[in-house]
Amino acid sequence: MSEEKNHNKLTTASGRIYVENENSKTVGPRGPILLEDYILHEKMAHFNRERIPERIVHAKGSGAFGTFTVTEDISQYTKAKVFNKIGKKTKVFLRFSTVGGEKGSADTERDPRGFAIKFYTEDGNWDLVGNNTPVFFIKDPKKFSDFIHTQKRDPYTNCKSPTMVWDYWSLTPESLHQVLILMSDRGTPVGYRHMNGYGSHTFSMINARNEKVFVKYHFKTAQGIKNFTDEEAAQMKSKDLDFAQRDLLESIDNGDFPKWNVKIQVMTTDQARKVDFNPFDITKIWPHSQFPLVDVGVLELNKNPDNYFQDVEQSAFAPAHVVDGLGYSPDKMLQGRLLSYPDAQRYRIGANYEQIPVNRCPFAVNNYQRDGTMRVDGNGGKQPNYWPNSFDEIEVDKTYQEPSEQLEDTIADWYDRNSKVGDNDHYSQPRSLFRDVMSKSEQDNTVNNTIGAMSGITGPKRDVIINRQLCHWFRMDDEFGSRVAKGLGVDINAVMSASVGSH
Ligand code: HEM
Repeated sequence: MSEEKNHNKLTTASGRIYVENENSKTVGPRGPILLEDYILHEKMAHFNRERIPERIVHAKGSGAFGTFTVTEDISQYTKAKVFNKIGKKTKVFLRFSTVGGEKGSADTERDPRGFAIKFYTEDGNWDLVGNNTPVFFIKDPKKFSDFIHTQKRDPYTNCKSPTMVWDYWSLTPESLHQVLILMSDRGTPVGYRHMNGYGSHTFSMINARNEKVFVKYHFKTAQGIKNFTDEEAAQMKSKDLDFAQRDLLESIDNGDFPKWNVKIQVMTTDQARKVDFNPFDITKIWPHSQFPLVDVGVLELNKNPDNYFQDVEQSAFAPAHVVDGLGYSPDKMLQGRLLSYPDAQRYRIGANYEQIPVNRCPFAVNNYQRDGTMRVDGNGGKQPNYWPNSFDEIEVDKTYQEPSEQLEDTIADWYDRNSKVGDNDHYSQPRSLFRDVMSKSEQDNTVNNTIGAMSGITGPKRDVIINRQLCHWFRMDDEFGSRVAKGLGVDINAVMSASVGSH
């Protein structure tokens, strides 16, 4: 039979055409199954291996392909080719996510949202793996696994535990800024199209003269910010667990392509030495009055993946993946993430995960990495598998060399992340967010959401945890502290006297 005629016939994994997909081969109509019906075994065995481990965080997500278009010239800051011409278009893949829930959890949980973008640039894939918030809960990667344990299930009850959550936050005052944002209605955005994205960390850019600046990335939703109230989010949770997935998919299917205006904040290396806060501390924003937003381009999502598992579940982003003209910063959290992500992905998808189409650089990939599980790209064929060699034409291009760096300190130690002036103020920025940025109704909702969330604290340490967190709220803003205390039925005078001993 010709190849052409076989193309739509049912086959085994090895291509054998077979006809019986519902009945197993048995000894008589009511007898046992024969071992030789290996197709039955193949079917069951493949099914048993369908799951890959879900992401350790950000397990529930949605993704789409799109385009990044440059609208302004920022060559004074970076030589990155992705930005080198007004009008230039680069293909992107963006995965949104919630953080703490499992792969089947609700899209409308109160949680930060992941905003991970892969830019397929001609100089390699650039991954910007951010969130919908400009700050984060902690500022040292050594704290990440402890923090995430509190966001997941209690080891005894196997339930989510507001007690663990608030115990940890109240013992980690650097979290206050992000906790305040999370307690506002921005903690429950209406799907993924109506929220901003942020690179959150400080990154760097290097221009053609090898001059470096520090930058923060902002993606402002062109759809406008829209959030659910706590009540609306709870209603949506019972109505449609997959609200954000459906909303994104349907909007793109209907040709209503979501867009974000891409902007950066820029800080010179000299300014970084002089500002009165640590510019590499992810719990802080850079005030826009001092570091105004600079327009860069537009990001549009315009194509749904044909297959969710292939492109969304198998996608792998890594903050380590920068390209020529873009760099890191000494932000400790970023430094920790540089190693963590590829390690997680080797475990989650395997050593050759970079070959999977959504992860693969569509331009050149030339190196001497060979073999390993599921190597499916030809494995370098007959080409040499070592370097240097006298046979192939792969060359090292020294024009891509990153400039050397003068570091300020030369003494290695376990420095207390909060001990220096500029590192130890956890209250001023959330105070100004609450007092100066939030509208009256946003303030009211944030207070109510906080009361609702803290009401879940239970057990023998309930009062200690509530009082410790109230102290932080009071330090941030008296009125906020009083309103939350009142909502929780706490006597403020008792809290004040408890606060004397806590810090
Ligand atoms: C030291 C701190 C952190 C560590 C160790 C860490 C670790 C991880 C790991 C292991 C994953 C799963 C990766 C995978 O399986 O593909 C992940 C996912 C993710 N993380 Fe982090 N993370 C940290 C902080 C952050 C911060 C500060 C942000 C945002 C500003 C962030 C945003 C994300 C996003 C968006 C994803 C999902 C990426 C995707 O859609 O595939 N993480 N993180």
